[in-house]
Amino acid sequence: MDVVEAVSAKIGADRVGVRLAPYVTFKDMACPEIVDTILLAAKHLSALGVAYLHLSEADWDDAPKVPESFRIELRNVFKGSIIVAGRYCVERANEVIEKGYADLVAFGRAFIANPDLPYRLANQLPLSPFDKGPLFGGSAAGYTDYPSYKTALGAVMHSSDNGVA
Ligand SMILES: Cc1cc2nc3c(=O)[nH]c(=O)nc-3n(C[C@H](O)[C@H](O)[C@H](O)COP(=O)(O)O)c2cc1C
Repeated sequence: MDVVEAVSAKIGADRVGVRLAPYVTFKDMACPEIVDTILLAAKHLSALGVAYLHLSEADWDDAPKVPESFRIELRNVFKGSIIVAGRYCVERANEVIEKGYADLVAFGRAFIANPDLPYRLANQLPLSPFDKGPLFGGSAAGYTDYPSYKTALGAVMHSSDNGVA
């Protein structure tokens, strides 16, 4: 709260967003009080008028599900925008928005592997798989070198023009 107040005083609370991680248990972060703490923090952050809360939800394969009761309680105590992230597909993203639990859904790995992700989702095009292998290797490799759908398609068509499978 001290940090948020200090930053808000400098640039305005409406330009401040806070990321919180409910139900994330790795690296010794399993805390029995985390949900109550987040709800209390959200109440104070709402009173300060911060622009958004961004929930970093657990994103590994058998991650615990965020219960709907938490999403409803968060909406009740926080009046700004709510963004969620963590293994969302377009169907789950639409569901949390339609139910009013979130205003926006963020995509991480799918966006890295598919720089034209909105275009692909809007046109129901297949998504390229994400390769975590090159991450944190000290270069841009694996971050900014995935092709768009049109570029990948053009490359395939070009290679088949040349008789290359
Ligand atoms: C390469 C990479 C770096 C990330 N760095 C951060 C970070 O510094 N801070 C953070 O809160 N989350 C970080 N994340 C987590 C993402 O913001 C996001 O919560 C996570 O990827 C789950 O969303 P996804 O399933 O759509 O990828 C990172 C994710 C990736 C793939």
